[in-house]
Amino acid sequence: MPNISRLDFLHRTAMSGVALLLSSLEGLALTTAQKKIKIAIIGCGSVSGQYLPHLSKSPYVELISACDIIYERAIHRATEFKIPNTYPHIDQLLAGANFDLMLTLTDMQEHGRLNKQALLAGRNVWSEKPLANTYQEGRALLDLAKTKQLRIWGAPAVVNSPQFAFMSKAIREGKLGKISSAHANYGHLGPTWSAFFYEKGGGSLPDLGVYNLATLTGLLGPARQVMAMTSIVTPQRTVDNKGKIKVEAEDNAMVLMDHGNGVLSHVQCGFNYFDPYGHEGKGQNNHTVTVWGTKGNMGLVGYDWAPFGVDLATSFTEPPVRYVEDPGDYVWQQGASVIAESMVKRTEPLIAAEHALHVLEIIEAARASGISGKKIQLESVFKWPVV
Ligand SMILES: NC(=O)c1ccc[n+]([C@@H]2O[C@H](COP(=O)([O-])OP(=O)(O)OC[C@H]3O[C@@H](n4cnc5c(N)ncnc54)[C@H](O)[C@@H]3O)[C@@H](O)[C@H]2O)c1
Repeated sequence: MPNISRLDFLHRTAMSGVALLLSSLEGLALTTAQKKIKIAIIGCGSVSGQYLPHLSKSPYVELISACDIIYERAIHRATEFKIPNTYPHIDQLLAGANFDLMLTLTDMQEHGRLNKQALLAGRNVWSEKPLANTYQEGRALLDLAKTKQLRIWGAPAVVNSPQFAFMSKAIREGKLGKISSAHANYGHLGPTWSAFFYEKGGGSLPDLGVYNLATLTGLLGPARQVMAMTSIVTPQRTVDNKGKIKVEAEDNAMVLMDHGNGVLSHVQCGFNYFDPYGHEGKGQNNHTVTVWGTKGNMGLVGYDWAPFGVDLATSFTEPPVRYVEDPGDYVWQQGASVIAESMVKRTEPLIAAEHALHVLEIIEAARASGISGKKIQLESVFKWPVV
């Protein structure tokens, strides 16, 4: 056996795990050769209002149940989208009408616990970010899913955009020469409706930075080490559900990643970013992701969750050329619908649980680095290139 480093060894053994997992959609525990995936939603707040219009139009989806601990919200969504069953608690949801895939759209801090309960009850899971509260908890969820021949996937869906595909292909084809650096940023003034975004286990990294981290690792490969600084800029906030609260999770973060082969990247995110384009990002025409190489650079126009072009510059004399201005059918809300389609067709989606888990490890490492001031080595990998 040739001499390989510990990281390379971990990388290779994890890759064989990925290969094993890839074959498992074949044997997925679905009831029959189903044409539609029966879906239950847990968490009927803001984001469910984005998911449900998309899901309700999918020919691969049958909406079965809606659940929320604020029961009126479950009833409201059920009425709005003609969902036949409603529940006020996950225990009742899992004991109630049968379904194949649970969509976890609750407060971030609840994801790990609810996802585990669904897997233990024999359900596949699509989880909003993050997949779990810690990397170890997320890793245990993936292991549990494997032993039960189930699947779990996590947001975001940024790797599905045609702009991501274009950038990935441009890098692979060497259009930028040797890649050196990349930068990505995403911020706004922070959600106003729920306290969990600012409480322990919340924060701008799992809510916002997660998109850029998924994009840059998706384009440049798994990060091997991370250094970061995080801070709290606004120590007190007023939110709809709890009034005045103390901010406990970082609302400002700068993360440096080393992707190997000399490639370094940087993500910045936060809840204190004045953005004239607002939460929706409409009209935003700047680059939010930029990749540099020795022969060219490219910038993603708009946000990576809602991109509408890629500017590619490879000439000293000609201006950059804009490509892929048409988003096709990509929207950020499509993750669970795409997973349902993949389950019916038994095709492996681009979105991978290992990628979501890697991003979770980066977030945890960034926080640890922020506290210790040290560089943190990572162990997780995912199948790369993604496209
Ligand atoms: N709102 C957005 O625009 C948006 C966009 C992308 C991703 N997300 C992600 O979606 C998730 C939810 O965010 P949101 O903005 O919809 O929050 P929200 O506060 O509007 O909704 C969360 C809902 O979950 C319910 N809930 C909490 N714990 C529960 C439990 N144990 N069982 C059942 N229901 C429970 C709450 O009662 C609430 O109705 C977060 O992970 C967030 O990062 C939100």
